[in-house]
Amino acid sequence: MPQPNIILTGFMGTGKTTLGRLLAERIDYDFIDTDAEIEKQIGQTIAELFQTQGEAAFRKLESKLVEDLAQKERLVIATGGGLVLNPKNVAALRKTGGIICLTASADEILARVSKQEDVRPLLKERNPQAKIIALLRQREAIYQQFPQLSTSKRTPEELVNLLLKHTSLRKTPSP
Ligand code: S3P
Repeated sequence: MPQPNIILTGFMGTGKTTLGRLLAERIDYDFIDTDAEIEKQIGQTIAELFQTQGEAAFRKLESKLVEDLAQKERLVIATGGGLVLNPKNVAALRKTGGIICLTASADEILARVSKQEDVRPLLKERNPQAKIIALLRQREAIYQQFPQLSTSKRTPEELVNLLLKHTSLRKTPSP
C-alpha cells in the first residue's frame, strides 16, 4: 500500500524544518528539507546561490527537486517558503501526499528569522518587517489553498500532535 508523503509549507520562519524533523522522527519517515537538499546538491548556501545566479536559478532547482521527490513516498517534506508559488510544484507534490501550511504573525516571523543563522536573501532589506508584510500579502491566496496550522503560542510537541491528528498517521505502538 502506498504511504503518502506529508508536506509542510508556509512562509519563512513558520517552523517547517523544526516540526518536519520532529514529525518524521515520530512516525519513522525520512525527512527532507528542500533548501538543505538544494544546498547539498550545489555545495553553496541558498544565499550564495541567490547572489551568484539569482532567484530564477534557485526556483529551477526547486522544481527539479520536486520532480524527484514526487517519485518517493514515506517522506516528511519541509518546502522552502516560495516553492508552492509555482502551481506545477504544487500539482506534483499533491499527487504524492497532503500539503499543510504553517502560519505565524509577521512579528513572530521577524523574531524567529532574526534569531536564526540561516540568511533569507529575500529579507535582506533595510526594513525586513515591511518586506515580510508585503510578501505575506502577496502570497496570501496561495498559502490559503492549503489547510492552515497556526504555530503561535504552541510548543513544537503540541504542533506535532496536531499534525498527527490531522494526517491521522500515528506510529504503531510496539507490541
Ligand atoms: C524563500 C524561503 C526560504 C528559501 C529561500 C526563498 C521564499 O526557505 O527557500 O530563501 O521565497 O519564501 P524557508 O521558508 O525555509 O526560510
